[in-house]
Amino acid sequence: MTMRTRYRRRAKIFAGALAMASVGALAAWALTLRSAMPEIERPVDAKFSKAEIQRGASLAAVGDCAVCHTAERGKPFAGGKALATPFGTLYATNITPDAGTGIGSWSVEAFQRAMREGVRRNGEHLYPALPYEHFTKTSTTDLAALYAFLMTREAVASRPPPNELIPPLGFRPLLAGWKFLFLPQTPYIPDATKSAEWNRGGYLVESLGHCGGCHTPRNALGAEKSHLALTGGSAEGWIAPPLDGSNPSVSRWNADSLFRYLRTGADARHGMAGGPMGPVSHALAGASEDDVKAIAVYIDAAMHPAGGTQPRLSPAAGALIDHTESAAREQPVGAILFAGACAGCHGDGAPMSRVGRAPLSLVTSVQAGEPHNTVMAILQGLRTSTPEQRPFMPGFSDALSDAQVAALAAYVRARFTDQPPWSDLERSVATARKEGTSP
Ligand code: HEC
Ligand code: HEC
Ligand code: HEC
Repeated sequence: MTMRTRYRRRAKIFAGALAMASVGALAAWALTLRSAMPEIERPVDAKFSKAEIQRGASLAAVGDCAVCHTAERGKPFAGGKALATPFGTLYATNITPDAGTGIGSWSVEAFQRAMREGVRRNGEHLYPALPYEHFTKTSTTDLAALYAFLMTREAVASRPPPNELIPPLGFRPLLAGWKFLFLPQTPYIPDATKSAEWNRGGYLVESLGHCGGCHTPRNALGAEKSHLALTGGSAEGWIAPPLDGSNPSVSRWNADSLFRYLRTGADARHGMAGGPMGPVSHALAGASEDDVKAIAVYIDAAMHPAGGTQPRLSPAAGALIDHTESAAREQPVGAILFAGACAGCHGDGAPMSRVGRAPLSLVTSVQAGEPHNTVMAILQGLRTSTPEQRPFMPGFSDALSDAQVAALAAYVRARFTDQPPWSDLERSVATARKEGTSP
């Protein structure tokens, strides 16, 4: 089943389930109403300490607030960015301190309620596109710091376009039922047997970092399957690889390489953060170094449980997989295309390899069971926002046909891995093209 039909089927199941649920929901109507919180005057900047604002800035970076709440070429945090979901398009709101169109009239209590319970100041339920499944675990002090940071930004008057959701999902009171099922408002529970750094990392991953928002699979109603946390999910047509013992990288991740990847968007033994991971790493570049280190320590431990399978190749291992000759025999069309379009960057001794960029044999996308990320990288290219990360990889969606992209993916797989070939590649390319262009 392709991801697209899975989405459509999911959307149908979701609409059906909601139609039934809505009968019950109407009966429980009174229960779904949440009260409005009083409007306040926007607090003056002097009310917040410099240190608190600075901590808030770092936490906003961990939480990707700007990634979702800033439109392309728009003012920071002023909203309007379209977010495609299986259930329709949502527009991120304006979270600058503008009183009329932003959150300038929200008290810290109203802000905390929105982040923890997904309820607006005026009492309306918010969609879980704001990842409150995770934000609900954020501590009161951290939410206060985030509030201080947001309230001291430039106020921008701007209203996002109205959401476009599959009926009846535009009806916000239905969200009360969703939250009843899927939003346990539990704080992060520290593990006393682990270090303070591990616990800080675990807290950030589960709360503001919302790594599970992409790296955890979702059920038919779009909620994360919490018992499968971080076992791998998907986002915007890309696969978000598992961050547990089943991570398919051939090159051993450790706390150092994870720190570099998360903070700079690239690591010499793993390649570059592609697709929706690019903006995540770009945001983390603005977070405090200690917090990103703590996240790396936590993920490293998750990837290497006792008896786990990672690694297959230690970072020191010099032997890199490169089956140039057999791959050219098996995939002659891919070999010719690769020589023309790709070898300038990915071939033996290409300038890129001399400045410490990862060879394709070390990149998870090429080793993974599914071809999605290899196909998406060829179609869309890869870019991070830091110029030090040049060269970028250009996208080839306009230059290459589906059959050519499929031939290239098959060639890359045969040349740079010991894994079995991917099946049904051309169909994956057609699907990826559609998913990659949705808003
Ligand atoms: C994955 C995208 C995403 C991320 C990340 C995200 N938000 Fe949002 N947020 C949204 C969307 C979409 C909405 C509107 C939901 C709706 O219409 O119900 C929203 C709504 C809100 C609201 C309610 C505003 C209103 O006017 O009702 C607040 C407050 C908010 N976000 C704060 C934050 C903060 C603070 C962060 C970072 C810690 C953050 N968001 C990160 C997508 C996101
Ligand atoms: C918006 C979706 C999204 C969020 C949020 C997200 N990731 Fe990712 N992540 C991805 C995708 C997609 C990839 C695959 C990128 C590629 O193939 O180039 C990825 C790749 C990774 C990788 C590389 C895995 C490998 O083996 O190559 C690591 C490590 C990672 N993410 C960690 C994190 C952590 C830690 C967080 C939370 C702080 C996080 N991610 C949040 C989507 C996301
Ligand atoms: C201008 C240089 C350049 C060209 C041309 C180029 N690439 Fe890349 N490619 C990169 C860089 C940089 C990366 C990131 C990996 C790294 O840092 O080593 C990358 C990564 C990849 C990845 C891994 C994707 C991921 O999720 O991390 C694949 C697959 C790939 N390239 C295939 C190709 C193919 C096939 C072609 C030809 C159609 C091509 N590349 C052309 C620079 C290039």
